[in-house]
This record gives sequence, C-alpha cells and structure tokens, in this order.
Amino acid sequence: MRTMIASLLFIAVALTGCATERYSKIEKWKVAATDPVVSVGHGGVFDGKGKEVEVSPYFVLHAQRYYLKRLYQEGSSEQKALFQQKQRSIEKIKPQDKSEKILVNAALLGWFVEAVKPRDAAQIGSKNSALLERYIRFKDGELDEVPNGGGPVRKDLVALLWREGLLTFLSTNVGGPAYIEQCRAAGVPIPPDWGSSSWKYLGKLGTKFISSGVDADLYAFESDAPKGVCFALPRSSGETITLLGIICLGTDTSKSCFWDNQKNKMQFGIPKNTPVPLSGFAGGADLFNGSGGICTDCHAGENPFIVYPGQPMDIANLLPKTWSDPLVHPAWPQNQGPTSALNGIVLNPGEDSCLSCHNKPPGRRFPTLSTDTPGYCGVILPKAIQFTMPPGSPGNNASYAKHKDALLASCNRVK
Ligand code: HEC
Ligand code: HEC
Repeated sequence: MRTMIASLLFIAVALTGCATERYSKIEKWKVAATDPVVSVGHGGVFDGKGKEVEVSPYFVLHAQRYYLKRLYQEGSSEQKALFQQKQRSIEKIKPQDKSEKILVNAALLGWFVEAVKPRDAAQIGSKNSALLERYIRFKDGELDEVPNGGGPVRKDLVALLWREGLLTFLSTNVGGPAYIEQCRAAGVPIPPDWGSSSWKYLGKLGTKFISSGVDADLYAFESDAPKGVCFALPRSSGETITLLGIICLGTDTSKSCFWDNQKNKMQFGIPKNTPVPLSGFAGGADLFNGSGGICTDCHAGENPFIVYPGQPMDIANLLPKTWSDPLVHPAWPQNQGPTSALNGIVLNPGEDSCLSCHNKPPGRRFPTLSTDTPGYCGVILPKAIQFTMPPGSPGNNASYAKHKDALLASCNRVK
C-alpha cells in the first residue's frame, strides 16, 4: 500500500512537473526537498528510511530531476551556461517517451557530475548508472536492451549524445588485467573464473537486507597462499544471474579487492552454468560510477564482508591481521579506521555494550561512519539493529540504546 501511495505521488510530481520540464526552465523545476535515493547496491535502491524503493520510470525521472537541479544550482555561471548550450545542442532530437527522457537526463547528469564535481560525485555517479540501468542497457558503447518494458530508444539519439560527449561516464576504463595484477601483488587471493569448480557452494542466504525476493547464493574460494578468502554472491531470476559481486580479502596483508558483473557501468546477465573469466568482470577503479553502487560504502569495517551470524558467510578465517584496506577508486570511502564513536561512553548497570563482541579481540570493530557512508548508515547498521543485532535479541533492545544511538549519531558527522 505504501509503495502504491508513493508511486501515485511520483506520478503526480511527474505530471505537475511537465509544464516546467524543459531544461531551459530548470531553475523553476519542482523537485523533491531531499535526496530521493540514499544508497544503491546489489540492484536495490534505498530511500531515506532505508526502505527499498520500487523503481518505476516516474521514480527515475523524479530522482534524475532532483540531481539535475541540485547540480545546476551548485554550478558556476560558466557551468550553467555550458549546461544550457549542451541541452540546446541535443534539442535536434527531442526525447519522445519515458525511456528517451531517462536517457537524456542521465546523459546530462553524467556530464554535470564531471563538470561540477560535487563532494558526493561518486555517489551521484553510481546512482545515475543504477537508475538508468533499470530501463536502458549499453554494451560496448551501443544500445543493448531496454529491459522492464522501457522503450524504444532511437539509435540516432544515442549517437548524438556520444558525439556531444554526454555519455563518457559510461566508458569502460581498461583497468581489468592491471587490477588483477595489483591485487595479486597486494597479497589478495585472485578468485577463479566464474563457473570454475574451485568456487565452493555454501548455500542460499536466509537473511537478506537487499532484494529479499531474489535468491542469493553464496560461494567461497579459500586460499592458503596467499592466505585469504573470496566470496561471490550471485543473485538470479529464473535462469539468469543478474548480479554477481565478488570480494576477496588477503588475511595476511589485510588488503581487499572488489569485482562485479558490469560492463559500461551496467550489469550484464549471465546464463546459469555459463563460465565467465574474471577478466570479464569490472574491478577496482572500473566500478567507479557503476550501477552496482559504491561497494565500500556498505562493505566496511574490520573485514570487507557483511556477516550475519549463523548464515552461510559466517565461516572461520575472515579476520585480517590488521584493519581491512580496500583497493578501490580514490573517490570511494577507504575504510579509514575503526570508529571512536563508542569511546568514553559510560554504561550504567543494566546497560549493554555492542563492544562486548565488536572489539578486537574478541571480534570485529565497527567502521568510522559519517555522511560519506550513507550505505552503511542507511542500510547496514539500521537493518542489523532491526533484524540481526545483538544476536538473539535484535529489534527493540533498550539495554543497548546508548551504543546504538551513538553509532547512528556518528553517521551525521560531516567528514
Ligand atoms: C547498499 C549496501 C551495499 C552495497 C553498495 C554493496 N553491497 Fe554487497 N552486500 C550488502 C549486504 C547487506 C550483503 C549481505 C547479503 C544481503 O543482506 O543481501 C552483501 C553481500 C555481498 C557479498 C557476499 C559476502 C558478504 O560480504 O556477505 C558480496 C561478494 C558482495 N556483497 C559484493 C559487493 C560488491 C562487489 C559491491 C560493489 C559493486 C557491493 N557488494 C555493494 C550490501 C551492499
Ligand atoms: C554477542 C555478540 C554480539 C553483540 C553483543 C553484538 N554483535 Fe553485532 N555481530 C556479531 C557477530 C558475530 C557478527 C558477524 C561477524 C562480525 O562481523 O563480527 C556481527 C555483525 C554485525 C554487523 C554486520 C557488520 C559486518 O560488517 O559484518 C553489524 C552492523 C552489527 N553486528 C551491529 C551490532 C550492534 C549495533 C550491536 C549493539 C547493539 C551489536 N552488533 C552487538 C556479534 C555481536
């Protein structure tokens, strides 16, 4: 019911927006008061309450307009003028339906992020690709498919956008083989190709914070030299794996590496039982602006994994010697160090401590949180508190209130 009301609201916003929809009138656009998307990851799009949003075309347009207007307002007068010049140059081919509007918005937004360089450029870049990907997919720079009933998109519109330099955010850097070597040199186990029998099946996840309706299967690759472990998490619908994130940790060097089934910043489907070489995945810096979200925004802490006690990923040997150091794009969160948010909090008799487990030793410390980690703050932490933490009595757990509150409050810190 709530999602229906939300969708109706977006339709209303989209319709009332029509009169002032033209880019030349961007200053007058009516947009949401706050960012409609807090984080994206594993195909999920989360709102300010950590709820997974139903991503209708109207929602995409609504969110895109929010970012376009915000960046326009943040831009210098030269950038505003350049934006108007860009939008005029593509007026020759007017977007005709929802899909084409989504594409043109995404193109202008991609250009804007690179021009204005807002402090959350990496976040907006990822959200832009994740929203676009719902309705338009590219492959090797060409229009590939229009999933979810999106549709038709004219090839000459795509060509025009490339010519105007508006789609460069979709270009793939050729970091693939170099990233694999970088990880190898950093003592991170290199995962086998997808489909190899070296991947050990650990089972389906019972607890899922994301896309709970979609099956998520966990595979592991454990390595002795270098010491460490890789996890792969294919999520599939029918006979196709739609999402396949891979994370590897070298437990001796504490470095970690990230891969995802993306090309041109968008996911590609993998038919079940079809092998894919590791070099076919995007990794490291190539994940920047990608639709899979900012891995290190959620995958932070003592190790790069998100572990639910008792679930398939809860295996031994996940603890790096020191604090986990991710090899990712420099604009991504770098997992700078354990949080100090719980230092000096005095607990009274009857009050409990998250640190009885989340301290080293015996366990894994929490990451430093701030407005730069909206994924951990908006999804991982609140959902853990609601569904899994502390083990045995999650949810309304008053004796842990001081620690929960302090961790959540540290999320509002501006780094
Ligand atoms: C919005 C938060 C978020 C983002 C962003 C995110 N993940 Fe995850 N990831 C999760 C959660 C939560 C789980 C645990 C399973 C679940 O609840 O669905 C998980 C699980 C995994 C796992 C299984 C091992 C583990 O840690 O439990 C892998 C592998 C993985 N993610 C890879 C990636 C990669 C690669 C990226 C970036 C392309 C990424 N994830 C981005 C939240 C996120
Ligand atoms: C009885 C021990 C115990 C207590 C108390 C506890 N946790 Fe945990 N928690 C765990 C274990 C075990 C895991 C999974 C492995 C790990 O990361 O240590 C975990 C995982 C988590 C995760 C997932 C993080 C990740 O990267 O894997 C979050 C978030 C979390 N706990 C939050 C909390 C909060 C907040 C509290 C206090 C309200 C709390 N926990 C209290 C044992 C505990």
